[in-house]
Amino acid sequence: MIFNKSSTLVFRYFDVNQTIMINEYTKSNCSEILYVVNDAATRYKNSIPDDCWKEPYMPERELLDEFRDGVRMLGYMHGNKLIAVMGFQEIMDVVLIRHAYTLTACQGKGTGSALLEHLLGKYLDSRLLVGTWMDAEWAIRFYEKFGFVLHEKKESNFLLGKYWNISPKQIEHSVVLEKHG
Ligand SMILES: CC(C)(COP(=O)(O)OP(=O)(O)OC[C@H]1O[C@@H](n2cnc3c(N)ncnc32)[C@H](O)[C@@H]1OP(=O)(O)O)[C@@H](O)C(=O)NCCC(=O)NCCS
Repeated sequence: MIFNKSSTLVFRYFDVNQTIMINEYTKSNCSEILYVVNDAATRYKNSIPDDCWKEPYMPERELLDEFRDGVRMLGYMHGNKLIAVMGFQEIMDVVLIRHAYTLTACQGKGTGSALLEHLLGKYLDSRLLVGTWMDAEWAIRFYEKFGFVLHEKKESNFLLGKYWNISPKQIEHSVVLEKHG
């Protein structure tokens, strides 16, 4: 990690060839980010309730609104191509992990883990929360591998209402996992 001129923490992770692998992405990278999100989100189709699925899963307006609301995005570059993203949002007394997606063809190769480890390293002393669809058991396993603990549905609903700005329908079908730094 390095600091830029304004001392804002910049996420940069270099491989052995000094290629930047993990970096922060902004709304100027919207189309690259959306490509990753909407490709990876096809995993949800037929897994989440039909009335929670939409195409594209994340329209541009939604991503721009997320940036406006303070979500920041890390991206993982491989061979000049963005292959994975993971967002985060500092809100009240917690840090939310938001919008974690790896291109379908690149899943299961350690990219999501690299991004999550990066965030865990930055927020060593923080209360981290992640919300996901209750039917996305692969995502729940992914976070549990890193020590996140799944909340009961009642507590999940409380946390989703307190820290997220999502529809009642999405709350109904989501769960929250938590990890203390
Ligand atoms: C969940 C997700 C972000 C993980 O990213 P990833 O790059 O696949 O993660 P990794 O390769 O580091 O895999 C970590 C673990 O995830 C699991 N996993 C998730 N998806 C997998 C897949 N398609 N193939 C194999 N393993 C997968 C494995 O258990 C793996 O553990 P292992 O390394 O012990 O086998 C990614 O699979 C994804 O985009 N899924 C669809 C969208 C989604 O569910 N997002 C989560 C929103 S909260």
